[in-house]
Amino acid sequence: MSQARVLLIVGGGIAAYKALELTRLLRAADVAVRPILTAAGAQFVTPLSLAALSQDEVRGDLFALDESKMGHIELSRSADLIVVVPATADLMAKAAHGLADDLASTTLLATDKAVLMAPAMNVRMWGHPATRRNLATLRADGVVFVGPDEGAMACDEFGPGRLASPEAIFDAVMAMLPSHAGPLAGRHVLVTAGPTAEPIDPVRMLTNRSSGKQGFAIAAAVADLGARVTLISGPVALPTPRGVGRVDVETAIQMQAACAAALPADAAVCVAAVSDWRPGAAFKVKLKKGHAGPPVVTLVENPDILAGLAATGPRRPKLVVGFAAETNDLETNARAKLSRKGCDWIIANDVGGGAVMGANENEVLFITREGLERWAKSSKTEIARRIAQKIAQVLT
Ligand code: CTP
Repeated sequence: MSQARVLLIVGGGIAAYKALELTRLLRAADVAVRPILTAAGAQFVTPLSLAALSQDEVRGDLFALDESKMGHIELSRSADLIVVVPATADLMAKAAHGLADDLASTTLLATDKAVLMAPAMNVRMWGHPATRRNLATLRADGVVFVGPDEGAMACDEFGPGRLASPEAIFDAVMAMLPSHAGPLAGRHVLVTAGPTAEPIDPVRMLTNRSSGKQGFAIAAAVADLGARVTLISGPVALPTPRGVGRVDVETAIQMQAACAAALPADAAVCVAAVSDWRPGAAFKVKLKKGHAGPPVVTLVENPDILAGLAATGPRRPKLVVGFAAETNDLETNARAKLSRKGCDWIIANDVGGGAVMGANENEVLFITREGLERWAKSSKTEIARRIAQKIAQVLT
């Protein structure tokens, strides 16, 4: 079993000292830590502390790297995960816009590895529309965030902006590090889950009853078999399973963009109940009751994420799996969906009578191009375990 490796970018903020404790926790868990200290970061922690705790050389200057030995591309290649602590407003802005004027930002632009950011900044910087935009962009690009927490801050203010605790960042890192054991070790599995929420106006939305339970169970089951998992979830009230990297989205368009950002993947499992339609134009202000009568909301069709993933050409995951939620003619409709969407398997469930969405049990048909299996009613966890095993059979 090889050692997991983190590339740790330490940004310039008061909270930078907590990156030292994170380094200690990671080293104690036998995770290799290779530090990059930004020029601003070096104003808050010394290269010597970081080198001593990480037991590695601290890199900071893009032009001081020996490109024949460990250049900036090689730096990101040598890591399983890139972690930014603290992710300052400046680092987030650079990463969101693809700026590359120092080693940290160049590495973030040059990498195809998963990125975890732990933001820390003044409460008003965090709330500023520019930072909100950058956060949304980075999320859509597949960056995963831990924190910030709410609380008293060094600048004598109170609110969100405080760095998550080193323990919380450690847990998030461990959850995202690929397991180096199990039949799916080294494989990347993409899972969509939950409903989507399509805004009608700033307070109303079009959504559905999906709880996300089946999708989250599948993400957990493939992670248990060692896969690196990107779970792209609509709004749900579920904790992130251990070992799973989660990207939260609201709309179908955001879910589609997050899926594209997460590629390449070895398998994609689309469990999300994506809203088939969205309001053509969301109203910018809250719709009011008035003399004009009820408003007319015109719907337009959302992109089909599953069909899109199944048709990505050379970037198509080897295995693309869909679900079929039907209220009638289960088998016929599900088979039609298999060929229409171009996926490899369809797992069909009868959602009529409201007994599946939100429930802990499910009864499914497992349909491939070759045949059909009728699985007895069982828990969503058990169904997820069986699907994960089938995936492992194909990918190993
Ligand atoms: N799906 C998707 N994007 C959409 C709609 C559906 O990725 N815009 C995926 C779902 O995640 C699921 C599968 O397609 O894996 C089938 O979803 P379902 O709602 O059952 O089918 P629809 O595409 O809505 O087809 P129909 O209207 O015929 O039921």
